[in-house]
Amino acid sequence: MTKPNRPVVWVTGASGALGQAICNHLHGTGAQVVASGRTLETLPAVMNGLDRLRLDVTDRHAVESAARDILNRYGRIDAIVSCTTTPLFGDFLSLTDEDWDAVLNAKLLGSLRVARSVIPAMIRQQGGSIVFISGRGGTVPPPRHLPGACANASLNVLAQGLATEYGQYGIRVNALAPGPIDSPRLEVMAKGVANASSALGGPGRPEDVAAAVAFLLSSEARHITGICLPVDGGRAR
Ligand SMILES: NC(=O)c1ccc[n+]([C@@H]2O[C@H](COP(=O)([O-])OP(=O)(O)OC[C@H]3O[C@@H](n4cnc5c(N)ncnc54)[C@H](OP(=O)(O)O)[C@@H]3O)[C@@H](O)[C@H]2O)c1
Repeated sequence: MTKPNRPVVWVTGASGALGQAICNHLHGTGAQVVASGRTLETLPAVMNGLDRLRLDVTDRHAVESAARDILNRYGRIDAIVSCTTTPLFGDFLSLTDEDWDAVLNAKLLGSLRVARSVIPAMIRQQGGSIVFISGRGGTVPPPRHLPGACANASLNVLAQGLATEYGQYGIRVNALAPGPIDSPRLEVMAKGVANASSALGGPGRPEDVAAAVAFLLSSEARHITGICLPVDGGRAR
């Protein structure tokens, strides 16, 4: 077992635009990053301090086994950042049960499974930090993005509930809600799915989200738990 004396952070959805930026930023701060996603080739390159893991978060047993693997490899998991989603947009009357299931399974249940697989180790460690990437749609739901918006709202509530339950063990749980971020998703959202403007004039960058995640995970945020932090450039007029 390698026991790094740097924090061990597991990032899911690490092949996505935000997941990649979060991995890069956390690696730059000196963390040991474990980047997971369904396809190894699209994950950030392996290097000293950055490892990768193939994982489909819709598979409960695979998630539990991934958590065991990381714990066996590094001895602990200090933080999780959950960034998975299935980008699916459409008119409410044309979205099927299968569409809803795909989004809720990858985003809401995927995040929940990862947290559930690691919280027992965090209790033993008497500490840890979890960040669920939700989204502005959780409070301002675009009508053509309702599955994602409902998953976002649920993640915000999940963060509050877990924060209340596990604060006694030094575990902090927060949600982070990006607004439009310059990424492949924005191209889809800009096609009438959502308002991509902001008070600051335009979309943010993946690095803006990554910096806010790093803050929430850091000791600077040691008294912050159960919140949903918007990283959205503010509401447009
Ligand atoms: N970009 C934005 O403007 C924006 C705005 C608001 C909220 N958000 C939220 O921020 C998060 C990241 O967004 P993004 O723009 O980076 O999205 P993205 O580029 O579409 O990335 C989504 C990630 O989820 C992974 N994923 C999907 N299903 C999975 C599964 N079953 N198991 C494991 N991984 C799975 C994908 O990995 P593979 O396909 O490689 O497995 C991919 O890495 C999402 O929750 C999104 O809703 C983004």
